[in-house]
Amino acid sequence: MPPLALAIIGIALVIGLIALATRGGDDPAASQTATDPQIPQVSEADIAAAAQQLGPRDQELVNIGRTGVSIDRAGGARKYVALTFDDGPGPDTPAVLAALKKAGVPATFFVLGGNVQANPDTLRQVVASGNEVGVHTWDHKDLTRLKPAEQKAEIERTAGEILAATGVASRLFRAPYGSVNPQVLKQAENAKLLSVLWDVDTVDWTRPSTDQIVQTAVSQARPGSIILLHDGGGDRAATVAAVPKIIKELRAKGYEFATVGDLVISDPPGSDDMTSESRDTQRY
Ligand code: NI
Repeated sequence: MPPLALAIIGIALVIGLIALATRGGDDPAASQTATDPQIPQVSEADIAAAAQQLGPRDQELVNIGRTGVSIDRAGGARKYVALTFDDGPGPDTPAVLAALKKAGVPATFFVLGGNVQANPDTLRQVVASGNEVGVHTWDHKDLTRLKPAEQKAEIERTAGEILAATGVASRLFRAPYGSVNPQVLKQAENAKLLSVLWDVDTVDWTRPSTDQIVQTAVSQARPGSIILLHDGGGDRAATVAAVPKIIKELRAKGYEFATVGDLVISDPPGSDDMTSESRDTQRY
C-alpha cells in the first residue's frame, strides 16, 4: 500500500478512536450514537495495526534497540541529557509542564494507560507542548511476574489509549520498576517499542527534599544521560520545584536538553549504553 493511503487510513482511524473515546457510557443518547453506522468501529486489531505503522523517525528509533536489550543512556558524544517523568499523567503533570515550558525544555513522559484514560486532556497538553510520550504499562505491574499474554495486553492497551487520546503512536517503553526479562523485552520489540531505562535515578519517589533531588540529578548527569523523575504516583511537589533548578544548574554546566527519542537518534547509544538486565527491583 502506498504511504499516502496508509496515512489516510491512519488519520481516519485516529478520528474514529477519538469519537469512540469521547462517547458516554450509560447515556441513552450515547448508546444510540454507538449504533450509528456512520461512526467507524475500531477493533483492538485496528489499534494494534495503527501502532505498527512506522514513519522514518519511528523506524530509526526502533532500529536503535537491539534484540533483548534496553538503553540506559545515549552515546555521550554530545552534552545533552533527557529528563523523563514516570507514572502520570496526574494532578502534578500540569505544573511540570509549566516549568518545562517556561525553561523552553522538552521532556519525555512514560505514562500509565489507566491514568491516560482518566486524564486524556492532560496527556494532550503533554504532547501539545512538544514533549514525547512513552508506554509505562496500564497499571504499573511488574511485567516479569505476568504471563506473556498479560504482558502483551499491558503494553498494547496502553499504546492504544495513548493513540486514542493524542493520535501519537508511541515508540518508547519503560518497564515498571525497571523490571525486565527476555520475554518482556521481546514483547516491547513485538510492539515496535524501544525499551528505555535510565542512568541517573533521582529517587524522588522516596520523598527527598527538592534540594536533594536537584543535587542527585546535577551531580550524576553526564553527556547522554537519561534522568529519572516522577510526575505521578503521589504528591510530586518536591519534584515540580526541582525541575527549574535542575535545568538551571545543568545549563550552567553547559548541558542542553532533548527528548529521549531526539537524544538517542542524534547520539546513538553504544553497547556500553545498553543492558539486558533489570535496572533494579525497587519501587518506582
Ligand atoms: Ni513507574
